[in-house]
Amino acid sequence: MIRARPHHVSDIMNILRHPNIIKRGFYRPNWLRKNMDNHEVWILVNKNEEIFGIIIGIREPPVRIKKLVIRPDVQHMRLGTRMVKEFIRDYEATAPILPNTLPFWEKLGFKIVRQTMSLKGNPLFEVRKFNDNSQLDEFCR
Ligand SMILES: CC(C)(COP(=O)(O)OP(=O)(O)OC[C@H]1O[C@@H](n2cnc3c(N)ncnc32)[C@H](O)[C@@H]1OP(=O)(O)O)[C@@H](O)C(=O)NCCC(=O)NCCS
Repeated sequence: MIRARPHHVSDIMNILRHPNIIKRGFYRPNWLRKNMDNHEVWILVNKNEEIFGIIIGIREPPVRIKKLVIRPDVQHMRLGTRMVKEFIRDYEATAPILPNTLPFWEKLGFKIVRQTMSLKGNPLFEVRKFNDNSQLDEFCR
């Protein structure tokens, strides 16, 4: 997984605009470029820089995955699992997710903390993965 750079923008946009990917916000090329300056767009690539997956989020604690998309033709090959694990490492993390993808997030140890709405009016779950220490802190408080 690497940080996306400006020359990746059109390939990223092609994946985000794929008809099988649910549109949840308004991601534009300029917005992506601006986020790359903040190191917030990460991509899973092969050695030819072909893009298989995208995470838009904040990798430093508090870790937040704002968007995760695996290219439709390579879904269900554990790439999403790999990207999330590599992105969050041992930190606690949160993400707004589409309800139908909940089983994916639950397998990674995330739990629903509340329900929200997307900009386009789709229901979203806010999920969170606690690390062992924070659960222990909560228990001892
Ligand atoms: C959801 C998504 C990120 C999962 O990534 P992936 O690489 O395909 O998933 P993995 O292969 O790592 O799956 C691991 C487990 O999660 C579950 N899972 C995977 N995709 C799922 C999905 N779409 N819905 C529910 N559960 C799912 C499965 O239980 C799977 O285990 P299994 O293969 O033993 O059945 C990916 O399919 C994706 O990007 N889908 C498009 C979602 C979308 O439209 N997003 C745009 C709005 S943000």
